[in-house]
Amino acid sequence: MTLPFLPFARPTLDEETIAAVAEVLRSGWITSGPRVREFEDALTRYLGGERTVRSFTSATAGLEIALQACGIGPGDEVVVPAMTFAASANVVLRVGARPVLVDVEADTRNLDPQRLRDAITGRTRAIMPVHFAGLAADLDAIGSIARERGLRVIEDAAHAIGTRHQGRLVGSYGDLVCFSFHPNKNMTTIEGGALSFPGGAAAEVRCADLERFHGIVRNAEGELDVQIPGGKSNLSDVSACIGLAQLAKLDGFIERRHALVARYFERLHTDPAMVLPARGDAGHSWHIFAPLLPLDRLRLSRSGFVAALQARGIGAGVHYPSLAGFGAYQRLGYRTEQFPNAAHIGANTLTLPLFPGMQPADVDRVCDACAEIIEVNRL
Ligand SMILES: Cc1ncc(COP(=O)(O)O)c(C=O)c1O
Repeated sequence: MTLPFLPFARPTLDEETIAAVAEVLRSGWITSGPRVREFEDALTRYLGGERTVRSFTSATAGLEIALQACGIGPGDEVVVPAMTFAASANVVLRVGARPVLVDVEADTRNLDPQRLRDAITGRTRAIMPVHFAGLAADLDAIGSIARERGLRVIEDAAHAIGTRHQGRLVGSYGDLVCFSFHPNKNMTTIEGGALSFPGGAAAEVRCADLERFHGIVRNAEGELDVQIPGGKSNLSDVSACIGLAQLAKLDGFIERRHALVARYFERLHTDPAMVLPARGDAGHSWHIFAPLLPLDRLRLSRSGFVAALQARGIGAGVHYPSLAGFGAYQRLGYRTEQFPNAAHIGANTLTLPLFPGMQPADVDRVCDACAEIIEVNRL
């Protein structure tokens, strides 16, 4: 019997959510409206009630708007980890500033605070830590460097809705924090993202409101003014209603991810061994499970490994190659050798299937497949 294809990620959408979507579709109001406000309020409550939340069509839009809200532009520098999704650094370029790449730690794969300190110049305006795979970056060290040097911290928490740092939810404190609700993430709105703002950030919130909807404001009579040439990245009510249903289930999804990851740690034994990701603590939200392949001891490339998994009906992903290897960043003068940890992770990482709908037997199937592929391709 052939087993069904096992993708590396799959959203969990139940019939209740599908019915809620149908209700919004029938309501006559499908773009930003009451469900968006409800979703933003629900996110505020989830984050402990003290934060202001604004939603967007993606985390990419949210991050770009966060930079704009902090007044970051040409001549400014923003520190970004060298191993992250391209969006983290692309948005810095898009506002006309320079992304200053800094290597990640070999084990956590998060921004290395020591190297961060050395990368700060007179032009640095912000630090953008990424909570890679759902494991919180060292927010204490990063926050204290930021305070010392008068810098903003824009957290790229695309992987980290539901992540805790020392028991506190990421996004419930700190400066600006941006989540993603792409279908592969811990919860989804199809496409979508949100920014969590601290109290006292009224000017930044206002800027985000203008940037996400054409710069439009209305006076008491409902007459419209366009105050800046804003963009268009407002979430729809259809997406927000999915987000509401997903948020209510988020803690359960993360619990399920923990159980599946515990089984990976128990069962993923290969010879030569794969390097398993840092386990972190109970605050890890396990957006992805990405061990490193022992490629230097195999006669198989990573794409060969992916093809071998695919032949066994198993999907895999790559998160992420070093940014320094991409054309847009090489043109800024970066070279992969400058960031050895990012280069090593980027060249060897492989994301294995992990999503709440998986069964323990699916984990076993992936572990067996990895062991077999490594066994027959050992040098
Ligand atoms: C670290 C990181 N930042 C930003 C993004 C962008 O998220 P979105 O697809 O919601 O724009 C992603 C998406 O995968 C990501 O992984």
